[in-house]
Amino acid sequence: MDNEVNEILSELKTNSRVLEMQHFIQHGNTSTYEHCNRVAKLSYRIDRRLSLHSDLNVLLVGAMLHDFYLYDWHNYDDGAHRLHGFTHAKAACKNAQRYFDIDDKTSRVIACHMWPLNIRNFPRSREEWIVCIADKCISLQETVFRR
Ligand SMILES: [Fe+2]
Ligand SMILES: [Fe+2]
Repeated sequence: MDNEVNEILSELKTNSRVLEMQHFIQHGNTSTYEHCNRVAKLSYRIDRRLSLHSDLNVLLVGAMLHDFYLYDWHNYDDGAHRLHGFTHAKAACKNAQRYFDIDDKTSRVIACHMWPLNIRNFPRSREEWIVCIADKCISLQETVFRR
């Protein structure tokens, strides 16, 4: 199962820009890189378990790059972290478009992952919904259980 995920993401996961996410902490003691990897795996599991027949490239690349904003959010906006919640999906999307040739469907997966905080970026496609939900599950797990 993980083989298919790794096959699709192998190039992306060893890219030096993507590896930069290893230097940033997402929640607890989890790096942003590991967080994105977990969201990608859970997204894949949700798709398979519910037989949703997602476009796996869109789903997995979107999941792996959904937090590709490349900074330590703990140092962002003087530690208030309010702005980060509202702005990082857009920052991640811009980086993903800049460094990788991602299509509109994949861009939207990244841009919509912070709904409902980013109230206007409502998930529409199945890939957008899956990553949005998988991110919330993984974030909760990382915050509550891994401190
Ligand atoms: Fe995020
Ligand atoms: Fe995330």
